[in-house]
Amino acid sequence: MKGLYSALVASAITGALAAPSPVEQGPITARAANAACATPVTLSGNPFASRSIYANKEYSKEVVAAAASMTDSSLAAAASKVANVGTFLWIDTRARIAVVEDNLKDVPCDQIAAQVIYDLPGRDCAAKASNGELAAGDVATYKTGYIDPIVAIYKKYPNTAIALIIEPDSLPNLVTNSKLQTCQDSASGYREGVAYALKQLNLPNIIMYIDAGHGGWLGWNDNLKPGAKELATVYKNAGSPKQVRGISTNVAGWNAWDLSPGEFSKATDAQWNKCQNEKIYVETFGPELKSAGMPSMAIIDTGRNAVTGLRKEWGDWCNVNGAGFGVRPTSTTGSSYADAFVWVKPGGESDGTSDTSATRYDSYCGKDDAFKPAPEAGTWNQAYFEALVKNAKPAF
Ligand code: GLC
Repeated sequence: MKGLYSALVASAITGALAAPSPVEQGPITARAANAACATPVTLSGNPFASRSIYANKEYSKEVVAAAASMTDSSLAAAASKVANVGTFLWIDTRARIAVVEDNLKDVPCDQIAAQVIYDLPGRDCAAKASNGELAAGDVATYKTGYIDPIVAIYKKYPNTAIALIIEPDSLPNLVTNSKLQTCQDSASGYREGVAYALKQLNLPNIIMYIDAGHGGWLGWNDNLKPGAKELATVYKNAGSPKQVRGISTNVAGWNAWDLSPGEFSKATDAQWNKCQNEKIYVETFGPELKSAGMPSMAIIDTGRNAVTGLRKEWGDWCNVNGAGFGVRPTSTTGSSYADAFVWVKPGGESDGTSDTSATRYDSYCGKDDAFKPAPEAGTWNQAYFEALVKNAKPAF
């Protein structure tokens, strides 16, 4: 609409363009939308520029229930608005594939479904909280029991635009945690699994972002080149799929977008990391990816990064106490390396349990700056959700 208007104004002013065809008001939008829904989608360029993110039913349900249980009516009113924010849906187990179709079939044609592929064998090799259902090495089940059924569902919806984040933390862990036995055991399955996912999911209506950790991870001077090489190698092994657009960063993370000086700029080791905020990270890692032969556009999770100064150390990742919902999803980023700010981690779902006796207890979830008590990763934490709403910037 904006583009058409300025084209008309420009032609009126310069008189240089041919007379525009008659402009119809109102209904043309609805008709154009119907036409878009009736034909297959081919995504190229920034998929978020012309589409808003679909607010999936699973997260909306959690949020609506959470708001309904609040006694403070003004907080409840603010909280219920979160249900309308387009947030990524995590397909974190084979069982979860059951909700995928229900979250594709109603996506309006001017929106994009957003989902996270997250079930690699030996998942979360450097931590304990998000260990997955598939044992390290079981790449066969990952392919035939997880990726293939998801691909079959996506193929039923060629007219629906879909954005995917591929396997948070996996390849970054291979770059920086290769001394851990668990990550050594997972390495070949991660590389083969991610390449398989990229290849099979390379459909015209899908756009993919491979996870690249965050500035406090692959942003260290010594990690930039090895990181770019790791991602680019897997991308090339997949046959350089056309629908890979670049990377996701700060997924389930806490880094600010462009805070300067950066949150950890005064740390004693800061001199070894130029990427003190996510903007610098995507603009530094992007060129490295390019020279390694991989597309370099980024999407950044701003779901929980409203409040800074909460973490004792940059690597603290579990249920950071005092966090707030951040900038809403938008394709207005101000960086030529950033397609969009997105909400990936569904705020309110835990990062990991604080129960020290649980099998998946990770000591990071017991640290001083972690909110306690906290339930198992992925399950709802009402008190934490309320704090995210209260601390949101911009406010709800
Ligand atoms: C964590 C959990 C996973 C969940 C996701 C989103 O990584 O391990 O189960 O789906 O967060 O909350």
